[in-house]
Amino acid sequence: MAKILVTGGLGFIGSHTVVELQQAGHEVVVVDDLSNTTIEVLNRIKKISGQEPTFIKGDLKVRQTVSGLFRAHPDLDGVIHFAAFKAVGESVEKPLEYYENNISSLVYLLQELRDRKLDNFIFSSSCTVYGQAEKLPITENSPVVPAISPYGNTKQIGEEIITQAVEAHNFKAISLRYFNPVGAHPSAEIGELPLGVPLNLVPYVTQTAAGLREQLSVFGDDYPTRDGTAIRDYIHVVDLAKAHLVAMERLLQKKNEENYEVFNLGTGTGSTVLEVIKAFEKVSGETLNYKIVDRRAGDVTAAYADTTKANEVLGWKTEKTLEDAMADAWRWEKKIRNIN
Ligand code: UD1
Repeated sequence: MAKILVTGGLGFIGSHTVVELQQAGHEVVVVDDLSNTTIEVLNRIKKISGQEPTFIKGDLKVRQTVSGLFRAHPDLDGVIHFAAFKAVGESVEKPLEYYENNISSLVYLLQELRDRKLDNFIFSSSCTVYGQAEKLPITENSPVVPAISPYGNTKQIGEEIITQAVEAHNFKAISLRYFNPVGAHPSAEIGELPLGVPLNLVPYVTQTAAGLREQLSVFGDDYPTRDGTAIRDYIHVVDLAKAHLVAMERLLQKKNEENYEVFNLGTGTGSTVLEVIKAFEKVSGETLNYKIVDRRAGDVTAAYADTTKANEVLGWKTEKTLEDAMADAWRWEKKIRNIN
């Protein structure tokens, strides 16, 4: 059993990962500034796992918060760093806030790791680092292209900072490049809680079906794909959370082959926007109100993962389907909106 710090542990992917770590017998300390979630998630984690993680409300772009955390918990064995701003459009409006938040928190955490000779760091990265890859499916060797948004750039810069810090200070780290995380815990206790109007597809779909939104806009049907809508690799958040457990145990058990490793986390299968809608309609029995509109600026045509490295080297693979994810997302949406 290890003691793991999970930053952003009350967020969407963070909360699901906390549950998986606890269910595997690990002790978890969560730090979250509650900027994009609520404290209620703590109780909901406890409802699933039977244990409440230690919780610290704190802002990691404040140096003293980070050092205070490690002083209070000198026996940490590893860190999984989720805490970050993640809205692509907002990052274009507020680039400096994105750099301040996403980069300084990372640097402060890595300084603590270095100073305390603590190994075992996992970073939330994104397939956005590949932009529109020339070859599909996307392997970890696909070139990282200049980011379009400040958000994407914080992920690229984050990976570079970790690469150089690992080299200089000899600790161990893994970056996990997520494709499109969707769904919710099958218990419907935790899920995605977008503030305001959702920007991502699946919460927009479920909120439209729940009557919170009038109509879903499908951004473009003139892409060079099988039905004209864009293709993404939608991965169930529970599968994604399990990959963090496997990656952390890989580091703890010193099974890593290099001090810094990178893995793509996706299902390996791309789905179009219309296929996502169909999967939702099938599992929910609802008819979704949607219309085709213009493309959204900055969207790529198609992105889906080559999962060979994650499968063979990490020893992890997805178990859930797109339909599972849509069913769980819908169960969660109905629960938080009190729909029977
Ligand atoms: C992108 C990034 C991802 C990042 C995420 C943060 C890529 C490949 N992915 O995800 O790394 O973490 O932003 O938000 O760069 N769509 C609609 N109608 C909607 C919403 C979305 O048609 O109302 C379509 C989009 O055009 C896209 C797909 O649904 O084709 C998925 O969109 P979204 O859920 O926003 O995720 P990405 O843009 O793929």
